[in-house]
Amino acid sequence: MTMKKKPFILGNWKMNLTLVEGVEFAKSLRSAVCDESGIICGICPPFVFLKDICLVLEGCGIFVAAQNIHSEKNGAYTGEISATMVKEVGCAYVLIGHSERRHIFHETDSFINAKIKTALSVNLKPVFCVGETLDDREDERTKYVIRNQLKEGLHGISAGQINELVIAYEPVWAIGTGKTALPEQANEVHSFIRGVITDGYGKEIADSVYIQYGGSVKPENAKELMTQPEIDGLLVGGASIKFESFFKIIETAAKY
Ligand code: PGA
Repeated sequence: MTMKKKPFILGNWKMNLTLVEGVEFAKSLRSAVCDESGIICGICPPFVFLKDICLVLEGCGIFVAAQNIHSEKNGAYTGEISATMVKEVGCAYVLIGHSERRHIFHETDSFINAKIKTALSVNLKPVFCVGETLDDREDERTKYVIRNQLKEGLHGISAGQINELVIAYEPVWAIGTGKTALPEQANEVHSFIRGVITDGYGKEIADSVYIQYGGSVKPENAKELMTQPEIDGLLVGGASIKFESFFKIIETAAKY
């Protein structure tokens, strides 16, 4: 069993909120969480809010993450945003391989792997998302699918780089559906993920890697999830766009 770490709570706003609402949210978060040393926390605003939100949160220890990047650092990719760009405006992390990117925008494991490498090359920490679909789970393919996503996504990533990234386990059937994986079910997959990392990089490195759970996290289930030994943090979607519910999750996580 791994040592419990400082919980890492990340809110993914997806394509929600206005700039004014986002800035207000960030100000509230800054005053509420700034001195909260018991947790690591951050938010993932849409691209066009990043600079304003980074300015509000500057120097207070709350991280800002982009929701995506392209795998190339620059070039003729109309409409895309690079790792260097989000780094320049103040992001510390970036979501990579979110299931909505995989399923709606058909991102492949090799594209995800290229993005992870590019992010790391500019010191942007990837939050690398993996997770099975309902069909995968019903066909008892969960472990196979997750092992594959990890293997392909982390291809060519060195032991020294692994601690620069966070892994997020997000069962696709639990995202935005109100269905949370049972805490024990989630813990079992987290333990499996840690085992795959142990096989590739050794136990010490695997134990220190953060593995977040995501999928219908809300204030009511944050305690049950955070008390699972292998769950190091939470990636929160729907419940992160209202300050009150996001803050309740943070407060709960800080206790466990
Ligand atoms: P959800 O989203 O909390 O709304 O299920 C989680 C995510 O997509 O990261």
